[in-house]
Amino acid sequence: MKRARLILPQEYISALEEVLGIPLSDESVRTREAKKQLEKFATSVEEVSKGLTTGRDQFLARKYLKDPEIRKAYALYYTTTNFLKPFIPLKELFINRVLNSPLHALDLGAGTGAAALGLLHFLHQSDFKSEVHLTLVDAVEQNLADATKIIKAYAKTLPFTVTIETRTKNIADRDLSFAKEFDLIMMMNTLNELDASGDQQLLQMFTSSLRTDGAILLIEPAARPSSRRLLQFRDIAADTKFTVYAPCTRQDGCPALLDESDWCHTEVSWERPAFIKFIDDLIGTLRLSLKYSYIVLNNNGETLHGRLGHQRLSRVVSEVLDEKGRVRFFLCNEQGRTEHIANKRDKSEANADVRQLERYDLVQNDNIEVREHDNRITEASTVNIVLPNTGARY
Ligand SMILES: C[S@@+](CC[C@H](N)C(=O)[O-])C[C@H]1O[C@@H](n2cnc3c(N)ncnc32)[C@H](O)[C@@H]1O
Repeated sequence: MKRARLILPQEYISALEEVLGIPLSDESVRTREAKKQLEKFATSVEEVSKGLTTGRDQFLARKYLKDPEIRKAYALYYTTTNFLKPFIPLKELFINRVLNSPLHALDLGAGTGAAALGLLHFLHQSDFKSEVHLTLVDAVEQNLADATKIIKAYAKTLPFTVTIETRTKNIADRDLSFAKEFDLIMMMNTLNELDASGDQQLLQMFTSSLRTDGAILLIEPAARPSSRRLLQFRDIAADTKFTVYAPCTRQDGCPALLDESDWCHTEVSWERPAFIKFIDDLIGTLRLSLKYSYIVLNNNGETLHGRLGHQRLSRVVSEVLDEKGRVRFFLCNEQGRTEHIANKRDKSEANADVRQLERYDLVQNDNIEVREHDNRITEASTVNIVLPNTGARY
């Protein structure tokens, strides 16, 4: 199976060039002038990258995106490396379903607009022709001003109407409410900056702000602490009245949380632009693929496997290791998170899809031999990829 790589739309790159005043095409990145400009951006990207890992609490307390140089660098590097992350979860969310029009979307912790921009790209790819009304919320007013500029520059290239409303507000405030309900609430790379003591209140705000057929998309970095923070939030949501639509194929507690060393994330291949490679090479970051954790929740009981017409499915939640004589991977489903072994001598037509598997594929499997420490895929087992993780590594 040929897997597609995700590609940034040229219109987005042009919007960034227009707002940041820097040439970003692959050819211009080779010029001395552009390199000099990118080196300056790279210094601030490095500051963010280090700040979000070591000395994190002080860095967050400083509201790092208030600094104009950091905000520009964030828009250039992080908005670009985050732009495509909503694409696959949104594909899963809207599969076999007509998009509401007009569409009302909320982006919490909008920063310089990556989640909202990613939504617009998805809608464009989905042939959406109606109106999108975006509401952006962030504690830092200057973020919202910059996000608005980038979104406007991108939106003018799109064949549908985009309106933007902004609110400078602390997401943790008790009185955060909206005069309307949303089809989609997105929060990307922000939950890990919020105190977990406010999770119940956040869920209440989700409930009162969501249409009955609406959904919540949460995306967090694939690093263990932020991924586990998201999985813990998922469990609290599932314990109240939320349904986990995707990526999970179970509603019970997340099995990755049972062992401190586990977490769960997808990995999607993309065409890394030359300006991101230039910065990566300079400061040692490496965005060869897009790795992130996501959860889609709703309040209406719908699940992705139900939407696909299946009673139950499994998600590949690890790398698929092709070893001498066997293939190994973890599947997550109603039974838990279990290692599966497919010996090459047991290869058959019914389990042929094992050789095509990628992390985060959704599979239907039957007749698996359950063993004490793992499960064995026998010659009689069936393994069918029902929904491939588009853009998976190949
Ligand atoms: C890492 S950035 C993510 C920005 C954007 N969503 C993205 O993925 O590129 C986190 C954002 O959340 C905002 N934020 C953090 N805590 C917040 C809070 N309590 N209320 C409102 N915004 C908050 C920050 O100002 C920042 O813009």
